[in-house]
Amino acid sequence: MSANWTPKSWRTKNALQMPTYPDADALAQAEARLSHYPPLVFAGEARSLKAKLAEVARGEAFLLQGGDCAESFAEFHPDTIRDTFRVLLQMAIVLTFGAACPIVKVGRMAGQFAKPRTADTETIGGVTLPSYRGDMVNGMDFTPEARIPDPQRLIQAYNQSAATLNLLRAFAQGGYADLHKVQQWNLDFVKDSPQSERYSDMSLRIQEALEFMAACGLTADTAKQIRETSFFTSHEALLLNYEQCMTRIDSTSGDYYDTSAHMIWIGERTRQLDGAHVEFMKGIKNPIGCKIGPGIEPDELIRLIDALNPANEPGRLTLITRMGPDNIGRALPGLIRAVQREGRVVVWSCDPMHANTVQSATGYKTRHFDRILSEVQAFFEVHKAENTHAGGVHFEMTGKDVTECVGGAQAIEESNLEERYDTHCDPRLNATQALELAFLLAAQLKAERQREQRLAHD
Ligand code: PEP
Ligand code: CO
Repeated sequence: MSANWTPKSWRTKNALQMPTYPDADALAQAEARLSHYPPLVFAGEARSLKAKLAEVARGEAFLLQGGDCAESFAEFHPDTIRDTFRVLLQMAIVLTFGAACPIVKVGRMAGQFAKPRTADTETIGGVTLPSYRGDMVNGMDFTPEARIPDPQRLIQAYNQSAATLNLLRAFAQGGYADLHKVQQWNLDFVKDSPQSERYSDMSLRIQEALEFMAACGLTADTAKQIRETSFFTSHEALLLNYEQCMTRIDSTSGDYYDTSAHMIWIGERTRQLDGAHVEFMKGIKNPIGCKIGPGIEPDELIRLIDALNPANEPGRLTLITRMGPDNIGRALPGLIRAVQREGRVVVWSCDPMHANTVQSATGYKTRHFDRILSEVQAFFEVHKAENTHAGGVHFEMTGKDVTECVGGAQAIEESNLEERYDTHCDPRLNATQALELAFLLAAQLKAERQREQRLAHD
């Protein structure tokens, strides 16, 4: 961090994708309030996530990061939080059991409310209005009033994040995540799918393993790993004024931490080297992510890594590639080689969602499940060829039975999209599709680990 970095030094740089608030006084008041609100996470928790991500960077663990494209005020409900958390747990257990690999669980939850947009305006039926930028900025209704950026929404997003995080902590540590409940996590609507059957088989085997361990004296009472799990939160750090208000000096280390989430990332549209978002990220000590598309050149990537992780600290930086299945095989190897050549330590994670968004014939933004799986598969293949660790995945999902992405075991077609299309921004995997992705990941990860073990024994 440069000597003159402060939580507000980003304000001297060009900040893309941030709203212009018409009422400057109301904005100043909201920011002043937020600056005095309690932190949502502790610096020590962010450090513990960084240590786990360092294990991922070393090839000893796998990062599972997922959740809503955009959380919304309207969908704020304990069942929504529980169902998303539960599917992430199910995916993690499929991976832990299938690949015998520790899984680092990070939700796109409790703060994922602000969206970058490709176009500043939206036109429907000849009427043009400012784009919707997430509930933290303006309203989704297509009216001039709803689309005005409202600073009160920053406060509401904070409050919803606090309540969400409170419930997530309770779920993770209060018994819900106990491994004896693996079978009960199976959601009703996935019960008849092939995934559900595979999941049930796995649950029985876990049950047997737990009984064996109990006979050896390891029970939920004696081993907290059986009854609790660790779960972290993350979101895109888009609204830098909000992130600034949540940035505090940690009294233990004397360092700045952004206490809005354990991990934050910058998006493909706001990662300019001389821009405000990179400037902000430089000074906080949290683990951070950076999205990278197929257009980035190896040199540019190295400069970005220099800016974001000058000390080459393991676990600090996760590179989240979002390239599309047609580009990843061409674009990723050169980037990996540059990083290896320069001796940089990063976590490589694959976002198979954001380069796979298409318009359906029926007018819905959708994603094809097989393209998502293809990108994940290609990501593993590239890492296999480069002899590097496919470190994780980053995806958009919900625990609800939505019809937003086409394909998968339920064979959702374009004509089904209108049935349960609830997203506030991009199309998400539903619980069945998420579980299907987890089984594919488990197979890939298991193969990678077996390769490594063979190498270690040769
Ligand atoms: C997102 O993660 O929701 C997003 C907008 O991603 P990207 O910056 O990769 O487009
Ligand atoms: Co998205």
